Amino acid sequence: MSDASGTYHWRGVLRAVLTHRRGLLLGNLISLFTTLCAVPLPLLMPLLVDEVLLDQPGPLLALLERLFPAAWQGPVLAIGSVLVATLLLRLCALLLGVWQTRQFTLIAKAVTLRIRRDLLARLQRISMAEYETLGAGTVTSHFVTDVGAIDDFLGASVAKSLIAVFNLIGVSLILLWMHWHLAIFILLLNPLVIGLTVRLGKRVKHLKRRENAAFEAFQQALGETLDAIHPIRAGNREAHYLAGVALKAEAIRSHSAAYAWRSDAATRLSFTTFLFGFDSFRAVAMFMVLYSDLSVGQMIAVFGYLWFMLTPVQEIIGIQYSFNAANAALGRINRLCALHEEPYYPHEQDPFVGKQTVAVSVHDLHFAYGIEPNVGEPVLRGVDLTIAAGEKLALVGASGAGKSTLVQLLLGLYPPQRGEIRYDGVAHTRIGLDVVREHVAVVLQSTALFNDTVRANLGLGRDYPDTALWHALRVAQLEETVAALPLGLDSLVGRQGVRLSGGQRQRLAVARMVLADPKVVILDEATSALDAQTEAHLHAALDTFLQGRTTLIIAHRLSAVRQADRVAVFDAGRVVEQGTHAELMAREGGLYRRLYGELQTG
Ligand SMILES: Nc1ncnc2c1ncn2[C@@H]1O[C@H](COP(=O)(O)OP(=O)(O)OP(=O)(O)O)[C@@H](O)[C@H]1O
Ligand SMILES: [Mg+2]
Repeated sequence: MSDASGTYHWRGVLRAVLTHRRGLLLGNLISLFTTLCAVPLPLLMPLLVDEVLLDQPGPLLALLERLFPAAWQGPVLAIGSVLVATLLLRLCALLLGVWQTRQFTLIAKAVTLRIRRDLLARLQRISMAEYETLGAGTVTSHFVTDVGAIDDFLGASVAKSLIAVFNLIGVSLILLWMHWHLAIFILLLNPLVIGLTVRLGKRVKHLKRRENAAFEAFQQALGETLDAIHPIRAGNREAHYLAGVALKAEAIRSHSAAYAWRSDAATRLSFTTFLFGFDSFRAVAMFMVLYSDLSVGQMIAVFGYLWFMLTPVQEIIGIQYSFNAANAALGRINRLCALHEEPYYPHEQDPFVGKQTVAVSVHDLHFAYGIEPNVGEPVLRGVDLTIAAGEKLALVGASGAGKSTLVQLLLGLYPPQRGEIRYDGVAHTRIGLDVVREHVAVVLQSTALFNDTVRANLGLGRDYPDTALWHALRVAQLEETVAALPLGLDSLVGRQGVRLSGGQRQRLAVARMVLADPKVVILDEATSALDAQTEAHLHAALDTFLQGRTTLIIAHRLSAVRQADRVAVFDAGRVVEQGTHAELMAREGGLYRRLYGELQTG
C-alpha cells in the first residue's frame, strides 16, 4: 500500500481494495439489483392517479387485465396489487442494501487490518531515538482514530455512494423517459446545486483537523498522567497534573464545538440549498402539466423522484466529508511512517554459532543522543574496551558518565556516530541486530514488567518448562518469594510489577536473563536495590551461571565490583583506567582509588 519511501498513497490503498476482486464484483452486482428494486418505486403509486383516479386507462391497467380474471378487475385490484408490488420491492431493496453494505464493509475491514498490521511492523523498526519523543497517546490515536477514519471512508461511504450513483442514473433515465424537457432541466440544474453544497463542505475541513489534534493531545496527557499516577499521588500533585489534562480537555471543547456547529451549519445550508432547488423543480413541473403533456400522475411521480434523489445526493456530498477526514488521517499516518527507522544490518556472519561465549570489543566509539539536526552533547567520546571471551569485567564511574549509554549501543538500540562494536572480532553491522539481541542479555536497574503472571514476565512470550522457571528463580534468589505467593508462578505482578518490591523486581529481571541462557551477560546496576546479604547470595549463585560467559558488570557498589576479574573506570565518555582491583587501588591519584579508596580503608 505504501511506496518505496514508506509513504501511503490513495493509489496504493485502491490497489489493496482491488485485490478483493470477487467481493467487489459481487458488491457492485448487488448494488445494481438494489437500484433496480428501488428506482421504480416512486413511479408506481402516482401512475394509479392517472389510470384509476383520473380514469385514463394506460399500460398498468392493461397489464392487470392480462394477469387477472375479468371478475376481479376494478380499482380495488389495481390499488391493492400496486401496493403489494411496492411493498415487495421496498423489502427487496432493503435486504439487498444490507447485503451490499456487508460486502463492502468486509473489504474495508480487511484493508484496514492490513494497514494496522503494516504499521505495527514498522513500529518494530522505528529507532529508539524517535520513541523518546513519541508519546504512546499519539501512536495510539494513529492506530485507532486515523485508521478508523480510513475504514469509515472505504466501507460505509464508498458502498453508499455506489448505490447513490446507480440510483441517480436510474432516476435520470426514468425522468428522461417521462418528460425529457423537464428531465434535462432538472439534470442540468442539479449538479449546480450539488456543486454549491460541496463548496460549503470544504469550509469546515480544517476545523476537523484541529479537533483531531486536540483529541491527540488530550489522550497523550491523560495517558502520561495515569501511567505515573503512583508518584503523582504520593507527591500530592494530582490536582496539578489533572488540571493540565483538563486544559487539554478544554481545547477539545473549543475545537470540537467550532467544528460541530459549523459543520452542522454547513449541512443545514446544503440541505436548504437543495430544498430551494426542489421547490423550483416542483413549480416547473406544474407548469409542464399546464402547458405540455405531463400528466398529473407523472407530476406526482416527479415530486417523488425529487425526494428520492435527496438521499443519494446527500450521500455523495457526505463522501467528500468522509474523504477529507480519511485524507487528513492518511497524512498523519504518513508522519508516523516518516520517522527514522533502526538501521538494518544483514546477517553476514554469526560469531555466536557453535560457541559457548564470545569476546566483546569496542573501538573508538563516539555517540551523542538525538536525531540530526538536533544532536546533543557527546556522551561517548572514543571508548576503547576489550572483554576477553569468558571474562568478567566491571565498569565503574560517576553517575552520568555514559555507562548505560554504552550498554544501549552494545545492544544496537542506538547506532554509534563513529567507531565499531565487535563480537569475537565481527562488527555488529555484519551480524544483524536481532542475532546480537538473541545472544546478549541485559539486566537493567529498573525492569519493565507487564501486568501479567510471573510466568509470563519470565518467559516474555516464550514457553519454558516449570523446572527451568524454578531453576532461574533459584539462581536469582527469588524461589522462596514466588513459592510463597498464593498462585506461585501464575500470580499476577500488577501494573509495572507494583505488587513486587524493588529488589524483587530486579531479581525477576535476573531470572529472566538466566532463563534466556545468553552467551554474553550485561548487568547494569542489576543488584543495586538488594540488601547486602541477598546480594551476596545472588552473586554466589550467579557465579556458577556466569562461569564461561563473557560478563559486563556495571555497578557502583564495591561488593558487586569485586565479583569481576578486571575493572575499567569510565569518566566523561571514555575508559580512563583499567586493571584488577588491587592494581587500581595501588595507583596513586587514580580515579578508582578516589571512588573506592575510602571504602577500602574505612
Ligand atoms: N535517552 C537519552 N536522551 C538524551 N540524553 C540521554 C539519554 N539517556 C541518557 N542521556 C544522557 O547521557 C548521559 C549519560 O547517561 P548514562 O545513563 O549513560 O549514564 P550512566 O553512566 O549510566 O549513569 P548512572 O551511573 O547514573 O546510571 C547523561 O548525561 C544523560 O543525561
Ligand atoms: Mg546507568
